[in-house]
Amino acid sequence: MLDVDKIKNDFPMFKNHPELVYLDNGATTFKPSCVIEMIKKYYESSSVNVERGDYLLSHEVSSAYEKARNTVAKFINARKDEEIVFTSGATDSLNMVAYGLIDKLNKDDVILLTYAEHASNILCWFDVAKRKGCKIDYIDLEPNGRMRLDTLIDKLNFYGNKTKVVSIAHISNVLGYKQDIKEIAKIVHQYGALLVVDGAQSVPHIKTDVQMLDIDFLAFSGHKMCGPTGIGILYGKYDLLDQLHPMRYGGGANSRFDINGNIILQITPHKFEAGTPNIAGALGLAAAIDYLNDIGMDNIEAYEQELKAYMIEKLSKLENIHIYNADTTSGIVAFNAIDVFAQDAGSYLSTKNICVRSGNHCAKILHNLIKTDQTCRASLYFYNTKADIDKFVAECANLNIENCINIFF
Ligand SMILES: Cc1ncc(COP(=O)(O)O)c(C=O)c1O
Repeated sequence: MLDVDKIKNDFPMFKNHPELVYLDNGATTFKPSCVIEMIKKYYESSSVNVERGDYLLSHEVSSAYEKARNTVAKFINARKDEEIVFTSGATDSLNMVAYGLIDKLNKDDVILLTYAEHASNILCWFDVAKRKGCKIDYIDLEPNGRMRLDTLIDKLNFYGNKTKVVSIAHISNVLGYKQDIKEIAKIVHQYGALLVVDGAQSVPHIKTDVQMLDIDFLAFSGHKMCGPTGIGILYGKYDLLDQLHPMRYGGGANSRFDINGNIILQITPHKFEAGTPNIAGALGLAAAIDYLNDIGMDNIEAYEQELKAYMIEKLSKLENIHIYNADTTSGIVAFNAIDVFAQDAGSYLSTKNICVRSGNHCAKILHNLIKTDQTCRASLYFYNTKADIDKFVAECANLNIENCINIFF
């Protein structure tokens, strides 16, 4: 059991906004004091660059930066620290994989995605496919977002050894379905393709073991797991990561270069971290991971499932609410109020100090699956309570055209 009252005290946002029911954790999460303190400490007491200065403070900060890499590696059970690249977020990480593979992709190769992917896991592949003459295709999903393994196999059989990459979200940001990544990895590897996993909505909420799941590349963001904005992670199995073409060049990522354009890059992962990195972000992310570890990822997952079940139980009693994903286990609930435009519902809830997301959630081709462009999304984290849900459900009961129009007058 989590002591949520105690946990809430760790988050200054709750002290500054005691009235707020924050159910937009899929977008970003609040930061505990230990993360804020870590960032402050860096800027106040050790605000120097990493891997560049021959003085004690720079050595100390460099070693703290590498220790943060180790914290991340352990958190996802990477084989070694060198499999962890600091990026600016999941979007950056996914772009680094897509463009990093550009030399390995050939005309008519196939990249498989799903309709439920976030723009960050689609647009970079579109561009790479266009540049290389590759084909993009989609693995069909069931209406709740589940990928059936036989559907995946059919698709891979259809393309034979032409499929080079399968890139999918572990947990979709709209429907919240958790894919069976371990089985998917087995199948994808049998066909000789790479499995890229968008972990933006999974790593913050469930224990992630990249070795057990046999993931080739994993992308996630710090800010969705109590860490700072502007920091994220690209994990890659070392040999695969090492073969990626770096997207960026600059200081810190090269060992030497000459006037003829010859460049000798640093070793992996440093060759992917050109320029001054987000040092405060990396240290803040490590503090967030320590914080999550103290609570326990299994506890977080179990508590979120309990909250989600409670929300579904209460919400499904309302006749004016349509839920799209009642049977998924993550803390994401996608819904609409009958006859109410999703963004009007979001604006109405905002007048009651309830924050949800509404719109297409950057999953702009998902309407192929759920037959609607716009939904509201309530997304939970371990600091939410049943009282939050009660307040939210009570206001959902009031979501009708009249109430939603009245907020504009
Ligand atoms: C599934 C998924 N992938 C990728 C991203 C992009 O994350 P970021 O904006 O932190 O780069 C998001 C953000 O909402 C997401 O939900």
